[in-house]
Amino acid sequence: MTQKLILPGLIDPHVHLRDPGQTQKEDFYTGTCAALAGGFTTILDMPNNLTPITTAERLDEKIKIAKGKIVCDVGFHFGSMGDNVDEFKEVGQKVIGLKLYLSLTTGGFVIPKGKVEKVFRVWSKRKVILLHAEDDTLDFAINLAKEHRNKIHICHISTASDLKQIIKAKEEGLRITCGVTPHHLFLTDQDVKRLGPFGKMKPKLTSKKDQAFLWKNLKFIDVVESDHAPHTKEEKESNNPPFGVPGLETTLPLLLTAVSEKRLTIDDIIRLCHTNPAKIFGINRFNDLNHQSRVEVDLSQEYTIENKNLFTKCEWSPFEGFKVKGKVLRVFIRGKKVFENGKILAKAGFGQIIKPD
Ligand code: DOR
Ligand code: ZN
Repeated sequence: MTQKLILPGLIDPHVHLRDPGQTQKEDFYTGTCAALAGGFTTILDMPNNLTPITTAERLDEKIKIAKGKIVCDVGFHFGSMGDNVDEFKEVGQKVIGLKLYLSLTTGGFVIPKGKVEKVFRVWSKRKVILLHAEDDTLDFAINLAKEHRNKIHICHISTASDLKQIIKAKEEGLRITCGVTPHHLFLTDQDVKRLGPFGKMKPKLTSKKDQAFLWKNLKFIDVVESDHAPHTKEEKESNNPPFGVPGLETTLPLLLTAVSEKRLTIDDIIRLCHTNPAKIFGINRFNDLNHQSRVEVDLSQEYTIENKNLFTKCEWSPFEGFKVKGKVLRVFIRGKKVFENGKILAKAGFGQIIKPD
């Protein structure tokens, strides 16, 4: 018995498509194919390319490359190491948010602490600052946002203590939102031994206790973001493996499986993967114009996640072997069928570049 359901086109506000610079890991075509296969019609790409996107010129170049390759809709976040505030005005019309790395991760693209305040002062108060901030850097960021009244989004929260800090800030009335990744919801530090370098990412996998706290307090979490961070198998198996795991194709099946286990509702998925990301990142107008974007899923279909079926160029998933219940059947963007029965139907360049509202 099939059990079909139609969801609005999902939005992933946090992916790393690696193009330009590291297209051996992923590129705009393969990354957006992975998005469609996973039920995402809109994704927002991060700026930590090999040469980070910290100037208007690099942003324009990236957008130009994307235009010819994307099969779903794509928006961009800008980056900063604290020395490019003069560029903010020009890029404001083109980017969705500003991403700052306050804690160490892939690429070592970390903004010196002393330069963060200036960025908070200059970046538009109407647009989001996305933060990779853990522990004490989270505290630091929250205090700055309090002082300068910025709109901040804390990416990929993973621990009970970080979520507690965010809940407190929300209760104090700060303009703060947060996201959680599927790997922090469905894997723990107990999986690290089995996965080896394929289970290494930032923030790292946490304890069952931390994970249980995230599930229990899901109502305080605003979005699910995959943090799709592909690296080749060779890179992962090297002496110095980079951090990150791909996620675009597995997020929705994992969430639907949680629905079948009654740990989540369909309304939660719509809130976390559609309504809230559109609202938080200011892409409502674009979204309304594109109300014909939708995803058809079969809630009853069970299958096993297998590397060989993935569209991501890196060809692996930390969830390989997972049995899931809930399959993406078809995807439509602006009324056009772009994915069906495991096949991409859209031509490279079909996707649109998203401008902020
Ligand atoms: O694990 C991660 N990988 N975390 C990040 O914050 C960055 C990402 C990447 O770009 O590979
Ligand atoms: Zn990331």
